[in-house]
Amino acid sequence: MELKNHFANELHQHLREHMTKKDIEQLIEIPKKPELGDLAFPCFTLAKILKKSPAKIAEEITFQISNNYFSKVVAVGPYINVFAERKPFTSKVIHEILNKNLSYGDDKIGHNKTIIVEFSSPNIAKPFSMGHLRSTVIGNALGKLAQKLGYKTVKINHLGDWGTQFGKLITAYLLWGNEEKVKENPIEELFKLYTKFHHESETFPSLNEEGRKWFKKLEDGDIKALELWEWFKNESLKEFKKIYSLLGIQFDSWAGESFYTDKMEDVIQELKDKGLLQTSDHAEVVFLEDYNLPPCLVKKSDGATLYATRDLATAIYRKNTYNFTKALYIVGHEQSVHFQQIKAVLNEMGHEWAQEIHHIPFGLYLQKGKKMSTRKGRVILLEHVIEEVIQLAEENISKKNPELQNKTEVAKMVGVGAVIFHDLKNFRMNNIEFSLKDMLTFEGDTGPYVQYTHARACSILRKAPIHDTNKFTLENLNIDDYSWEIVKQLYVFPEKIKQAFDRFDPSIIAKYLLTLAQHFNKFYGQVKILEKNEGLVFRLALVKAVTIVLKEGLNLLGIQAPEEM
Ligand code: ARG
Repeated sequence: MELKNHFANELHQHLREHMTKKDIEQLIEIPKKPELGDLAFPCFTLAKILKKSPAKIAEEITFQISNNYFSKVVAVGPYINVFAERKPFTSKVIHEILNKNLSYGDDKIGHNKTIIVEFSSPNIAKPFSMGHLRSTVIGNALGKLAQKLGYKTVKINHLGDWGTQFGKLITAYLLWGNEEKVKENPIEELFKLYTKFHHESETFPSLNEEGRKWFKKLEDGDIKALELWEWFKNESLKEFKKIYSLLGIQFDSWAGESFYTDKMEDVIQELKDKGLLQTSDHAEVVFLEDYNLPPCLVKKSDGATLYATRDLATAIYRKNTYNFTKALYIVGHEQSVHFQQIKAVLNEMGHEWAQEIHHIPFGLYLQKGKKMSTRKGRVILLEHVIEEVIQLAEENISKKNPELQNKTEVAKMVGVGAVIFHDLKNFRMNNIEFSLKDMLTFEGDTGPYVQYTHARACSILRKAPIHDTNKFTLENLNIDDYSWEIVKQLYVFPEKIKQAFDRFDPSIIAKYLLTLAQHFNKFYGQVKILEKNEGLVFRLALVKAVTIVLKEGLNLLGIQAPEEM
């Protein structure tokens, strides 16, 4: 931040003997009450060093700071507060946004670097869970943030489409399945068959043997087994794709677990060659005592491979294929140990890049405080949940703006925006209470609130007598406090993008958008924006800049910004 930089430089000139510029920068804060200043430097640390009261120090230094960049420097108790020269700062920020438009905040730090974002990754023939929804929206946002920072991204849906469960499913289908029923309601039917298998196998354990046989056949390339598996997969994918299409989400690769079936033998061989594989209880494992982790199971006694084996092969394949700088795995926290094991084994193999694998965990969706599940007796399809939200959004809009032309389209943007924002406004590790009512209000911490603010700003611009906002001047203007708060917010957008990506935390953007929207709505309530006087063009430019940043901020979260709603 430029202003911060000037302030730190000034302070450093006087404090050189006691503190580095970096120390100073880290201490500078933004006063809680804007009327007290734009930046503040607390003198507590100095007080310890200089053995003087912080208030005394603040007073002394305040006198020495030059007014080049600041309109005012004051001591406020133990703080040194500065007020920025509003005009040059405002002019610079607004011009930059208007010139760059939606590329405001773009960065080159990711230039020539590739980031893998693996997200969503539902399991074939099983319901798309609430956890998969979280992974989907968090991963999509992280991918967009990475792109904004100049990284090339590869978005991968690592489908759960391989494993012993498919042997069981084939067995169940051959015994009790019905083609028509599966075609009509694939996930529900297949899941029923799978559940029935588990139930029946308690009474008839021989079923398990049958299941194992069918998985073996599948791994050996048996035509019939493969045909059924492929059919299950295609039917499930059709269902999943409905959800992705509603959410507006795309992937670059759909290489799931089955993609690695022919790539695991090499990994197992490498583990053997490096002397890492040991036999324990007839299975092949890598011991990870040094890491305080349970052994990683690589091959079962019957020769079958496991989830971990596929993940080892996956990581190595991705490194070889994409040469990633970082690989992000957006997967629920219950798999933390699994990913620690994967990283530890890769590390043991001598793959230093293992440290660039980041498991990005998240909390649960709750309903009335309890874990929310997509199946409670019967399968609730997530698609229906989203459709319901869209429906409710349409009812809201019809009440608020019955004349709106493309109501259905807007309702979809608002409903989907509501679902996504409801998730992303929370730090990802927090559990979220799933509430349709909360996510849809136009006046709360919601997606629709931010979208509505954006639409309101767009409507001002439509009504404006002038549309060329680029040529504004601030010469005879006073920048009022409402505008100034907006300008300062707009200014920190690029910084927030970097922070959100560095911490893998899209909630930083969501919270930022709420703050910006609140400041804008205060301005809207207090200032006569369209009044014909010398400040008009500037105010319109400010409104335009707000629409740009709100729209791009929402876009980074995977949310659209309708111009009318
Ligand atoms: N399909 C898994 C599940 O639903 C998630 C896959 C996570 N990714 C991975 N590389 N293991 O639990």
